[in-house]
This record gives sequence, structure tokens and C-alpha cells, in this order.
Amino acid sequence: MRLQKYLAHAGIASRRKAEDFIAAGHVRVNGKVVRELGSLVEEGDRVELAGKRVTLPIDHRYLVLHKPAKVMTVASLVPREGGRVVPVGRLDYDTAGVLLLTNDGDLAHLLTHPRYGVEKTYRAVVQGRLQGDDVKRFLAGIRLDDGKSGAAKVRVVRASSASSELDVTIHEGRNRQVRRMFDAADHPVLSLVRLRFGPIALGDLRVGRWREATEKELADLRALQRAAERDGGEESGE
Ligand code: URA
Repeated sequence: MRLQKYLAHAGIASRRKAEDFIAAGHVRVNGKVVRELGSLVEEGDRVELAGKRVTLPIDHRYLVLHKPAKVMTVASLVPREGGRVVPVGRLDYDTAGVLLLTNDGDLAHLLTHPRYGVEKTYRAVVQGRLQGDDVKRFLAGIRLDDGKSGAAKVRVVRASSASSELDVTIHEGRNRQVRRMFDAADHPVLSLVRLRFGPIALGDLRVGRWREATEKELADLRALQRAAERDGGEESGE
């Protein structure tokens, strides 16, 4: 990319103004003043304007995957072009459902931080008939070996003596949390699918397929991020 275009992309100035900076000798590439307008900037070059490093904004990607069960690594299920993305939080090997993947490290950190309690909803099929008392126990929090869980909302979709289907909403993301909660309640999980992660719903995305997050989902994620940054200002030193 030409140097003046690089500076303009970085949001420093218009391309015209950037040309003036270059001609005036204010721009260095890899430590050397460059006055030539056509010079090219390669990946990895260090560009400075008046002694200050100038970087291009990262092109953030936000992909929504319907992770299949019996899959551990999901990288091969999304396209490589556009750079590496990593899952925000995790789903167990046996769990299917909505998984957000991004290269936006700040957002990923906030969304998985227990303190910010992003809501997740799972459709679980569990062994046995879930009773009203069980639902109350979930609301009160279930004792697990790493401490009591937060309040979990349970909505029974269907129940028979053999099995019950229900939606459970939690705010934490402890390892195998939903499975452990139902184990503790003597209703082991038979299958688990995440229907929603914060503002992102699985909808009719087919198993193994991915899509880009929608504008609305991104706006809602950013609102969560802003709220978290406001609350966490002291901790993160902002
Ligand atoms: N709870 C679980 O038990 N497994 C998951 O994958 C997610 C939440």
C-alpha cells in the first residue's frame, strides 16, 4: 500500500494532507525519513509520523457458528480468509449450538469475564421428569464442587417420566456447568444445545454452518462492552 494511503487509512489525515507530511519529511518508515510519495509500505513495516507510531485499525471479524456436537476444534469450520478468529468462551465436545468467533480480543475478554455475566440459554434434554421443586432449586442456585451456581432460570418445554426438555439460562460460564448442575439435581443431561449467547441467537442456522454477526447483534455486543467497561473501569485502570 502506498504510504499516503496507509496514513489516510490509519485515520491520521486526508490523503492530500498525508502527502504534505511526507514531502515535509515528517514520516519515517523503519526508522528512515521517506519523502517519496509513491513509496510502498509492506506488512510489518514500522511507520512513524513526527516520532509517533502509526498503525492501521484492525479489521475485526465476528462470526457466528452452529458448532456440531462431537467436535472439539472449530477453526476448520469457518473460512480462513480475513485472519484468525478464536471462539469466545467454549462449548464442550458433546455440546452443540451457537458459538461466537472473533479476532476482537477486548470484546472476547469482556464477554467471557464472569463478572459481566453474559446470559446464555441452553436447550437441554435431561433424564427423568423435572418437577417444580427442581426448577426452584435452580433459581436458588445449585451447590457444585467449585461453589454454588448463580440463579439459573429453567423453563420446562416438555416432560415425561423418561426425560424432560427444557431451556436453562445461566450467567456464568464455568466448566461443564449445565451438565454439572443437572447431575447435582439427579437429572443427567442427555443432550445440550446452546440457543443463545448474549444478544446472539442460534435461530435457524444449520449445524456446522456459520454466518457473519448482524449489525443489530454487533450493536448489542458493543453496548454490553461499553457497559462492562464502565463497570470495570477501576479494575482495568480506565
Ligand atoms: N455447560 C455445559 O455443561 N457444557 C457446555 O458446553 C456449556 C455449558
